[in-house]
Amino acid sequence: MMSRYAAFVFFLYFGVVSHGIEVEVKNDDKLCLYANLTVSFSVTYEIADNKNKTISFELPANASSKGSQCNDTNSILKLSFLDGHSWSVDFSLKDKNYQADTMTFVYNLNDSKVFPDSSSNGTVTVTTKPDITDVGVNTSYSCKSKDTLVASLQANMTLSDVLIQAFIVGGNRSKNLTTCPADTPVTPTPTHVTNATTVAPVTNATTVAPVTNATTVAPPTTPTPTLPTPTVGNYSIRHDANSTACLLANFGLRIGFTQNKKYQEVNFDPPTEVSGSCGVDNSELILVSNNITVSLSFYNDTKKFRLHAVNVTINSSSGVFAQSSANLSLWEAAVGSSYMCNKEQNFTITSLLSFYTFSLHVQPFGVKNGLYSTAHECSLDDPSILIPIIVGAALAGLILIVVIAYVIGRRKTHAGYQTL
Ligand SMILES: *[C@@H]1O[C@H](CO)[C@@H](O)[C@H](O)[C@H]1NC(C)=O
Ligand SMILES: *[C@@H]1O[C@H](CO)[C@@H](O)[C@H](O)[C@H]1NC(C)=O
Ligand SMILES: *[C@@H]1O[C@H](CO)[C@@H](O)[C@H](O)[C@H]1NC(C)=O
Ligand SMILES: *[C@@H]1O[C@H](CO)[C@@H](O)[C@H](O)[C@H]1NC(C)=O
Ligand SMILES: *[C@@H]1O[C@H](CO)[C@@H](O)[C@H](O)[C@H]1NC(C)=O
Ligand SMILES: *[C@@H]1O[C@H](CO)[C@@H](O)[C@H](O)[C@H]1NC(C)=O
Ligand SMILES: *[C@@H]1O[C@H](CO)[C@@H](O)[C@H](O)[C@H]1NC(C)=O
Ligand SMILES: *[C@@H]1O[C@H](CO)[C@@H](O)[C@H](O)[C@H]1NC(C)=O
Ligand SMILES: *[C@@H]1O[C@H](CO)[C@@H](O)[C@H](O)[C@H]1NC(C)=O
Ligand SMILES: *[C@@H]1O[C@H](CO)[C@@H](O)[C@H](O)[C@H]1NC(C)=O
Ligand SMILES: *[C@@H]1O[C@H](CO)[C@@H](O)[C@H](O)[C@H]1NC(C)=O
Ligand SMILES: *[C@@H]1O[C@H](CO)[C@@H](O)[C@H](O)[C@H]1NC(C)=O
Repeated sequence: MMSRYAAFVFFLYFGVVSHGIEVEVKNDDKLCLYANLTVSFSVTYEIADNKNKTISFELPANASSKGSQCNDTNSILKLSFLDGHSWSVDFSLKDKNYQADTMTFVYNLNDSKVFPDSSSNGTVTVTTKPDITDVGVNTSYSCKSKDTLVASLQANMTLSDVLIQAFIVGGNRSKNLTTCPADTPVTPTPTHVTNATTVAPVTNATTVAPVTNATTVAPPTTPTPTLPTPTVGNYSIRHDANSTACLLANFGLRIGFTQNKKYQEVNFDPPTEVSGSCGVDNSELILVSNNITVSLSFYNDTKKFRLHAVNVTINSSSGVFAQSSANLSLWEAAVGSSYMCNKEQNFTITSLLSFYTFSLHVQPFGVKNGLYSTAHECSLDDPSILIPIIVGAALAGLILIVVIAYVIGRRKTHAGYQTL
């Protein structure tokens, strides 16, 4: 008869300083779950004429925690607010640790106060898996840093100033904390260029799991079979466990390849395995995800660095696809700076292999204190400079053509008069 559930639930928030919500969930009059956090949502929805609108709002402090409950192995934090919206997190306890299993956000497009002019009628449910794992039992999870969870193409959640104890023993909160990696300060250490040994994979858990449950009228969508924008992975390589990063890279990657005369594209999921090395004139990043291995080799020619070699292996049901190129000059920037390109970019690696990058930022040499140096931005990022140049050049060409035509015309008429 362990299935006691929250007999009494309440929260109070004295919003003196900042936003946020404080929640206390009780079980048999004993505190069993405590949370103090800030959640903000960003939702894109359809309005008239097939247009989209994106709005952001915060989880209000007066949300109701009815439906939150806990027992010895499972806790649910559920906050309902306004007209039919809710946000909830399921926690589970195993052995000496607990974790958040799923985070669910339900929003009601019918609520015209939150979603003015919405052209669809219905409730949307999105879920994602937050990166709250291995929290010691009898400790609170603490994360002051902002963490944005992409739950679907239409909805984001940003958590900040999070303090949660999902399993409280004996009714008293623990003062011990399990702090998230993002809050752990970077310790600067003297940099010394040696050969790489250890590797620090830094991937953001941004599982994309759209689960839409349109209740009444389904939104008038014509789904396109194109791939979603790939998830951006954050990668870093260190010389050893105690040093800061010596190579930094962030990007979303889509790979286009031709296998058995068939062209196809796949999104490269942020990998399960990250390795690499940093050297004086050569640095390497190797990413292994599912059946795809991507290795990137950077070269430092004293003044500039560039991506000079790429190796891709894809294991699919139709066989092994492997291509490499070792004579490239991509992602170039001065040594000591980083290369950045937010726009989607297309790179031909070999005749059978191409890369599409999204939100690209790399620094393979000269990383100081684990942070990117000033960025060299790709020209694509600034079309405002290019457009006037192109327009100007086109106009100049046009004027030249008119002048030449005029001169030729004059000569012809002159010649005509002379022969007559
Ligand atoms: C705890 O609650 C979960 C659902 O919230 C339930 O599946 C589980 O059986 C419960 N465990 C116990 C020991 O009551
Ligand atoms: C609106 O959003 C839908 C779904 O995300 C998308 O298919 C459509 O292209 C968007 N429309 C505009 C005008 O951006
Ligand atoms: C949405 O539902 C309400 C009542 O359920 C209805 O009055 C309204 O016309 C609906 N709007 C759309 C766009 O279907
Ligand atoms: C989700 O967050 C990303 C990055 O913060 C932003 O570019 C995007 O527009 C957001 N999506 C929605 C639906 O708000
Ligand atoms: C809740 O968290 C906020 C931000 O960290 C903090 O300012 C506030 O004092 C906390 N509230 C309580 C009751 O601890
Ligand atoms: C907090 O951590 C310390 C050291 O790990 C431990 O001795 C103490 O018992 C913990 N307190 C609680 C309430 O868990
Ligand atoms: C990944 O997390 C770091 C900090 O944890 C953050 O600075 C960065 O913006 C995140 N990137 C994405 C794509 O969410
Ligand atoms: C780095 O490794 C290469 C071979 O992988 C070796 O030749 C070189 O001596 C090493 N350098 C240092 C500083 O360990
Ligand atoms: C939501 O949709 C899933 C399948 O897409 C279904 O299994 C589930 O029962 C639905 N939930 C509600 C509340 O309609
Ligand atoms: C890392 O630091 C710890 C303590 O700060 C030290 O005990 C350990 O030897 C260091 N490891 C290396 C490889 O320097
Ligand atoms: C990996 O390849 C195997 C066959 O080689 C295939 O069955 C499996 O679905 C692939 N996995 C992924 C994630 O593509
Ligand atoms: C780049 O290469 C030059 C010459 O090999 C070397 O002196 C310099 O330290 C390297 N720069 C970095 C940041 O490793």
